[in-house]
Amino acid sequence: MLTKIEVAFKELLTCLQTAKMYGTEHPMFQKSLEKAYGAFEDVFTQRQEIIIGIVGDELAFEKEIFFELGKLLRSAILYLKERNIERLAFYRGLSREELSKFIGIISGPKEDFKTDPQQLLAFVGIENISIGKLKVADSQVKGAAEFNQPNLYDFSMDKVAQVVSSVLNLEKIDPRVLKVSLNNIIDSLSIQRQELLKLATVKRYDAEVYVHMLNVAIFSMYFSSRLEFEKSDVLDIGVAALFHDIGKMYISRKTLHKPDKLSEQEFDRIKSHTVLGGEFMFKYVDSLGILPVVVSFEHHLKYDMSGYPRMPLLRKQHIVSSIVAICDVYDALSQRRGYKQDYSPDVVYNIMNKDRGSSFDPELLDRFFQFMGFWPVGSVVALNDGSIALVREENESDIRRPKIEIVAPEDKKRMVDLLQDGSLCIERYLNPWKEGREYLGLGH
Ligand SMILES: [Fe+2]
Ligand SMILES: [Fe+2]
Repeated sequence: MLTKIEVAFKELLTCLQTAKMYGTEHPMFQKSLEKAYGAFEDVFTQRQEIIIGIVGDELAFEKEIFFELGKLLRSAILYLKERNIERLAFYRGLSREELSKFIGIISGPKEDFKTDPQQLLAFVGIENISIGKLKVADSQVKGAAEFNQPNLYDFSMDKVAQVVSSVLNLEKIDPRVLKVSLNNIIDSLSIQRQELLKLATVKRYDAEVYVHMLNVAIFSMYFSSRLEFEKSDVLDIGVAALFHDIGKMYISRKTLHKPDKLSEQEFDRIKSHTVLGGEFMFKYVDSLGILPVVVSFEHHLKYDMSGYPRMPLLRKQHIVSSIVAICDVYDALSQRRGYKQDYSPDVVYNIMNKDRGSSFDPELLDRFFQFMGFWPVGSVVALNDGSIALVREENESDIRRPKIEIVAPEDKKRMVDLLQDGSLCIERYLNPWKEGREYLGLGH
């Protein structure tokens, strides 16, 4: 057994060296990854896990010390120690992709490992490897490794919220953490898009400070990825969207949340959040680029160039500002759903479509609703035959006729594609905080 483990570990170290020399995109790396992965698979046919530790200057598997690896080992031990790694555990179920990501991470600079190295793995969604200090008790290491898919999303959302609050407190931020987290959110979006959009469309009632910013970031990333922007652009758009309203921190809460009509002076004050935000994001131009500045500045400009701030010399809103503007208004209108029955999705759709061509780029707006659906995924709706359904998946060819799951009454429970079944249609939306509430948990 020990030899097999030694072989696996040796291949892993070779693979790491290849990654350092050629990078992880090179075919040489792919070849050596293939070998290493094969060796691990071989071990996993007989074992659940492989745990390797650095004891003193030796590398050990359980109580046995590796001797065979000789010289290769010396530098490897030093290398791992420099990265605060004294213990490596690989679990059965390890995928080739995880191994590749793992090597990608440990081939990075040692400065990356100043914090808990396990977090770096959690960030990219590696579940079947854990790394860290030897003294950490097993249960704790396992716990740290448990950032699996759905939690990874929450975890990433927390990270994003932390960065946002650092910015609000004028602290330094780590753009890498922000991008990795947003990247995780995008990845989660592509795996469990419906679940997550549901979160963004339904879970809004717990009115947090960041909910609007995060929602607009998620909608913008989803929208731009469906528009087939490159992934790196989608990330930049997410960052810009996240900070679009940052200028509001300069405006008193009293003015921002004033329920009655604003005086002209107060309205001017609110309008200034665009310029203030743009100036503010300029401080982060080195780490986050110019896009957050542009979007803060322009997100209340309209397609026909009315809106604010007045920009007589500007001909056209930046495409990213147009994207964020649509998501911004969509989220702001949808948020009212919590307390105002009348802002159901059809009302939001109608309000926004009234401004199609004036406030919003008409083509972009059409695409937006095509992707989001008329009735957002997760909505509780009443059908023309009196049954109640949850919206499961939009149909791009007819946004009013999505795929649904009938959840009540009991004897009608089933999935229906409204494109296929012409006899049924959605009649109205049920507020998820009021009459729709009891049906929310019924789907699976
Ligand atoms: Fe705004
Ligand atoms: Fe906004």
